[in-house]
Amino acid sequence: MAFNLHGRSLLNMQDFVPRDIRFLLDLSAELKRAKYAGTEVPRLSGKNIALIFEKTSTRTRCAFEVAVHDQGGHVTYIDSSSSQLGRKESLKDTARVLGRLYDGIEYRGFHQSTVEDLAQYSHVPVWNGLTDEFHPTQILADLLTMEEFAEKPLHELSFCYVGDARFNMGNSLLIGGVQMGMDVRIAAPRALWPDDMLVAQMRTLAEQTGAVITITDDPLAAVKGVDFIYTDVWVSMGESMDVWGERIKLLKPYQVNTALMKATEKPRTRFMHCLPAYHNLETETGREIQERFGMSELEVTDEVFESDASIVFSQAENRMHTIKAVLVATLG
Ligand code: CP
Ligand code: NVA
Repeated sequence: MAFNLHGRSLLNMQDFVPRDIRFLLDLSAELKRAKYAGTEVPRLSGKNIALIFEKTSTRTRCAFEVAVHDQGGHVTYIDSSSSQLGRKESLKDTARVLGRLYDGIEYRGFHQSTVEDLAQYSHVPVWNGLTDEFHPTQILADLLTMEEFAEKPLHELSFCYVGDARFNMGNSLLIGGVQMGMDVRIAAPRALWPDDMLVAQMRTLAEQTGAVITITDDPLAAVKGVDFIYTDVWVSMGESMDVWGERIKLLKPYQVNTALMKATEKPRTRFMHCLPAYHNLETETGREIQERFGMSELEVTDEVFESDASIVFSQAENRMHTIKAVLVATLG
């Protein structure tokens, strides 16, 4: 291994410098090839890993579980309804208990300060499986997927994130894209732009990495020539259902549809989404929104989601390979 990430936590993309990310992406590709070739070597034998989920998950939970299993380790799944966490025991006490029993802890929940406290008090590596502010393991999967589909180095690629840019996905894509020296574009209504302080930090970092940052409220202009268009749900986990009306009003012009894909003027632009997505009426929330607001497709149309341009399921698979790389590098 060129870089020693042993014992490190991943709470935010900024915990790792660009060469660490480069190393993790290369290791992910290596582990992916080994799994496909049947030559994977278990490096997590005897390791015990706790997975704390205060919000629901399909991809992140399954990616951690499969990655640990493939590498010969064990997991314990903990949620707030079936453990003492939150109601009967503080996070600080839980952290000190889990730190005595486990080699590492994954945490998904609300506040970034919670995952930071967990790392401080458990004294074992902690990996952020999503907070309101950041979703770093998702970004590693997205960067790997971009490389796989573009066959060009990341610093020669561009993407446009369209939608709610002031939450976990918008923030983390901005950071990851800037760290890797990419052409990073954000198209969002001004009310949903990333925090000014984060943008200022990223503009400073971009001077070192060669990244170009564009933040605009004009989606058609923003996507011109981009390699990837990325979006996320308009209302995230933990937000009140009451905000849907206002969010739809703000974000309807930012829906990823065929017209927006065509505005890239590039036939090979790919569509990305961290998932889950509201692209049809096959979900309870999707049907509820249709009844209340008359929209049957939200952040992305079914046509784009199901098109050949869509690489969303490759992103989902890469969650597992990239999480495996993080675990092997920090624990193995
Ligand atoms: N993308 C993602 O984090 O999916 P889950 O919410 O299913 O984990
Ligand atoms: N912004 C979304 C991401 C889901 C992976 C949420 O927080 O619900």
